[in-house]
Amino acid sequence: MRIPRHLAIIMDGNGRWAEQRSLPRIAGHHRGVETVQAVVEECRTLGVKYLTLYAFSSENWGRPDEEVSALMELLSRYLESELDSMLSRNIRFQVIGESSRLPVGVRETLQRVIDLTSANTELVLTLALSYGSRNELVRAARAIASEVVSGRRTVEQIDDALFDEFLDTHGMPDPDLLIRTSGEMRISNFLLWQMAYTELYFSEALWPEFSSEELHVAFREFARRQRRFGLTAAQICNESENRGEDSH
Ligand code: FPP
Repeated sequence: MRIPRHLAIIMDGNGRWAEQRSLPRIAGHHRGVETVQAVVEECRTLGVKYLTLYAFSSENWGRPDEEVSALMELLSRYLESELDSMLSRNIRFQVIGESSRLPVGVRETLQRVIDLTSANTELVLTLALSYGSRNELVRAARAIASEVVSGRRTVEQIDDALFDEFLDTHGMPDPDLLIRTSGEMRISNFLLWQMAYTELYFSEALWPEFSSEELHVAFREFARRQRRFGLTAAQICNESENRGEDSH
């Protein structure tokens, strides 16, 4: 079965999962971390090479202070507890987003895990933290404009490839598949540039309930889709026949 090389996930529904059980919202985030652990392991086993998780959006700073602090605390504990497992499973960890806005203690832990796992090659696990796609695009546009103003580049040199280089995701392939849980059908300011040709899959499951079986269903659906990248179906068939592949 064709497996996405890069899977991106909007992990949604932790709060509703908790509210349905009359639990505090943070209990949903705790269960959400367990789902993260299971999904990371399943993706590694299935051969996904890049997994990008939307863990904290630029807009999430507006949540009640106690929920924001609890999420930061949970993130630090997750990183501390997963470091050994990332090292033994050959997982490289990285972050996208405005990490300068994160508390200094969280930033130090993030940097330590990034540095210690930097030579790993099996799976690149990326957390989007304090991330918003428009913010990323504006930062990239500003950085490119500075290069032009300083004379290091010309306006004519600005193209898709150059823009890619200035995004937080530089060096990563674009996502092949996006999964969003909890029945919401929105992109919510996630990887807008990078998802130009990404297949979208929406699951009704709340994130704490999202299981390996659900992941397999999403991958089967992905494998059935024909990705055309703006070309015709016939062209895609010819291209894949030339490569000796099954295009479906
Ligand atoms: C969406 O649920 C989830 C988040 C805003 C945060 C995602 C965080 C986790 C899965 C736990 C922390 C992750 C790591 C990697 C340590 P929501 O709160 O928006 O749910 P709702 O829409 O039902 O209110």
